[in-house]
Amino acid sequence: MTATIKQAYQQIFNDEPVLFFSPGRINIIGEHTDYNGGFVLPAAIDKGIYLAVNKRTDTTIELYAASFNESYSCTTQTVAKANKQWPNYILGVVNELQQAGYEIGGFNLVMDGDLPIGAGLSSSAAVECATIFALNDLFALNISKQKMVQLAQKAEHNFAGVLCGIMDQFASMFGKKGHAIKLDCRSLAYEYVPLQLHDAKIVLLNTSVKHTLASTAYNTRRNECAQGVQWIQEKYPAVNLLRDATIEMLDVCVKEKDSTVDNRCRFVVQEIDRLLQGCEDLKQGRLAALGKKMFATHDGLSHSYEVSCKELDFLVDAVRDNPNVIGARMMGGGFGGCTINLVKENAIEALIAWLSNSYQQATGLKLETYIVQTGDGTRRL
Ligand code: GLA
Repeated sequence: MTATIKQAYQQIFNDEPVLFFSPGRINIIGEHTDYNGGFVLPAAIDKGIYLAVNKRTDTTIELYAASFNESYSCTTQTVAKANKQWPNYILGVVNELQQAGYEIGGFNLVMDGDLPIGAGLSSSAAVECATIFALNDLFALNISKQKMVQLAQKAEHNFAGVLCGIMDQFASMFGKKGHAIKLDCRSLAYEYVPLQLHDAKIVLLNTSVKHTLASTAYNTRRNECAQGVQWIQEKYPAVNLLRDATIEMLDVCVKEKDSTVDNRCRFVVQEIDRLLQGCEDLKQGRLAALGKKMFATHDGLSHSYEVSCKELDFLVDAVRDNPNVIGARMMGGGFGGCTINLVKENAIEALIAWLSNSYQQATGLKLETYIVQTGDGTRRL
């Protein structure tokens, strides 16, 4: 990948690039908790987005996406939302830097990657983090990693239109090989937890259903959680996020008002608790207990939070009673993408063969599978 992207850059721009990489991410447990101020437990993987970039002497921004064979150009004075999505993840970052008062000049950029797009592995966050890391390096902006993560998240809000939490960008930037990151999404305090899975491995099963998070559903969930908080605040003014809420508060303030909002909030409160216990399970090597919680998370996401789809449910139900599958659940925003499975190593091959067949028969779709290797966060190569 590094050789081909370098060559592409040399051919297009007749110049030498600097190379950067930012990984995709998985999340062990703790879904839809980040924008509620809760905890998440993601890890960076060894697949991601590669950029070949360098400064220009003028103010032109020239972009080329190798996987789409498409170009886009503008200048630093004309940065605006593009009518196709991929340039927006890059231009969104430029826009946030400019809004925050950072000076950047023109640049050339070639983007490529080995991360499946729309599979719930945060390819968009990887592009944003790679871009901000590259621009910070090339233009010597001296921005901290934490600030870069926050600006990358804002780029997603303002240019991609998804009001995402901080998990994806944080995991991409701060990833560490062999570890998950227990992140407190309110304070941004974090802890690396060794991902010790003994005789198990993490297997991703990609439904091949492309999730369009931007298509309102994700933002609707955010609003439903905010509505719940507002009702709780009438009685408990100190509660600012669902992180601070309890089941009792929901019983008193939300349940009677709206059952949908109540279901959403209840899931989040339970999920934050499940994550805290699941993280202890991981630390203590209690994988069976962690696995059970992953199934419980899936059921909550499917029935209460309602962000699953029939293909994701099919894949989780198919492995639910399989003694070689320790845990499984849908992962990420939902409505498609992957399930994450904890599978005993010696059973992986047979499981994939059997599932690929039954999934195709049931849905007509091709099942893509990946055995996850964790990796380090955003970096210059
Ligand atoms: C998407 C968002 C994240 C997070 C997850 C759900 O991946 O980008 O911020 O909310 O969905 O946990």
